[in-house]
Amino acid sequence: MTETKILTKYRGEKDSHTIAHYKSKGGYEAAKKALTSMTSDQLIDEIKKSGLRGRGGAGFPTGMKWSFIDKKNPKPKYLVCNADEGEPGTFKDRILLEELPHQMVEGMIIAAKAIDAHHAYIYIRGEYTLSIERVQAAVDEAYAAGLLGKNILGSGYDLEMALYQGAGAYICGEETALINSLEGRRGHPRLKPPFPAVAGLYGCPTVVNNVETFSAVTHIIQNGSEWYAKMGTAKSTGTRLFSVSGPVKKPGVYEITLGTPLMVLINELCGGMKDGKTLRGIIPGGSSVPILTAKECETANMDFESMADHKTMLGSGAVIVLSEDNDIVESTFRLAEFYAHESCGQCTPCREGTHWVAGLLHKIKDGHGSQKDLDLILSLTVNMEGGTTICPLADACVGAVRPTIQKFRSEFESRLQKENKHVA
Ligand SMILES: Cc1cc2nc3c(=O)[nH]c(=O)nc-3n(C[C@H](O)[C@H](O)[C@H](O)COP(=O)(O)O)c2cc1C
Repeated sequence: MTETKILTKYRGEKDSHTIAHYKSKGGYEAAKKALTSMTSDQLIDEIKKSGLRGRGGAGFPTGMKWSFIDKKNPKPKYLVCNADEGEPGTFKDRILLEELPHQMVEGMIIAAKAIDAHHAYIYIRGEYTLSIERVQAAVDEAYAAGLLGKNILGSGYDLEMALYQGAGAYICGEETALINSLEGRRGHPRLKPPFPAVAGLYGCPTVVNNVETFSAVTHIIQNGSEWYAKMGTAKSTGTRLFSVSGPVKKPGVYEITLGTPLMVLINELCGGMKDGKTLRGIIPGGSSVPILTAKECETANMDFESMADHKTMLGSGAVIVLSEDNDIVESTFRLAEFYAHESCGQCTPCREGTHWVAGLLHKIKDGHGSQKDLDLILSLTVNMEGGTTICPLADACVGAVRPTIQKFRSEFESRLQKENKHVA
């Protein structure tokens, strides 16, 4: 099997990040089409028909999200690109930002027209220095070419676009925390409703989409929704970028059609396990989603439905592979520690729960834990999930910890037993 390169077709080519390269491959034709010959309703319909679902984590249908913007609302509408990419294991947006920024800018121009926004922001991860440089250069080039600013391509449509650098907080990837941060406030998630489509940036209707989502929009408007919907499965259309890490022969970012079996991605594209190691399990969608055992990996496909059938998610598209060399107790502790560190502290179940879970795992990892501690973690996680908090960060911690303990309990217990023996 090979990759289906739509968004990454020109990846690796010299100067692929420049407007000259992008235009030489037909770049900005889709924006021209959107601005000069399509209405905003037609654009939304086309994205709805394509079946595109958000690539940032939740997989929400993009066309439907855009349709929530009430165009009769006299307030300004805002468009925001989420380029914060903070989910552990995820590095696919980085490729699009560093190597192919113009297709994202073009997708944002199209989306702005669809929701009647005249101001767009790119909220970009502060640590991504090359991405910041390349995206700023792309925005500058687009302004110089008359693709941003007043009366774009003589269409009468105005759009201003600016970059805003995040300061390293994972929580600022959550869209309402991101909006607060953009406003210059503390990056705390907001209570919903109202959702951003009703009251987002500066209290105005706002759409937030991921880098990859905007990049896909460009190709859908260029080639049509039917063309896009033919790829993938009925409910998971198109291609998706997956960042594969861990002990495989060829880790990296792969673009494949949704519905591809997980083990085809691992064995055929990533070359299988490195140095003859045995697969222990795979976290298929970033650190927040439940792990799959090696046996479960055999039947899992990379689409939203198959992942739901396996009680996990595609999340941010980060495929984290674990072999027998990986200490599952240690890695679970590390993830819990990450969530405890990144909790914004607004909600008690998250602020207290993540720290308790991390603390107990620390104890177990170091051989000082008991069965009671293991059971306490499981009972704590019940109080952390299911809408007890403003945002899903606590649920993310639960997703990273509880299924791993349930599926690999003997590994956790062997740490306790060692300690028990030691004490005896
Ligand atoms: C704690 C947390 C962190 C998140 N981080 C990101 C992120 O770094 N990038 C991203 O695109 N979405 C992230 N999301 C999801 C966003 O809230 C939002 O759903 C997404 O940007 C919407 O874009 P999409 O519809 O194109 O997927 C995060 C969500 C949560 C709860």
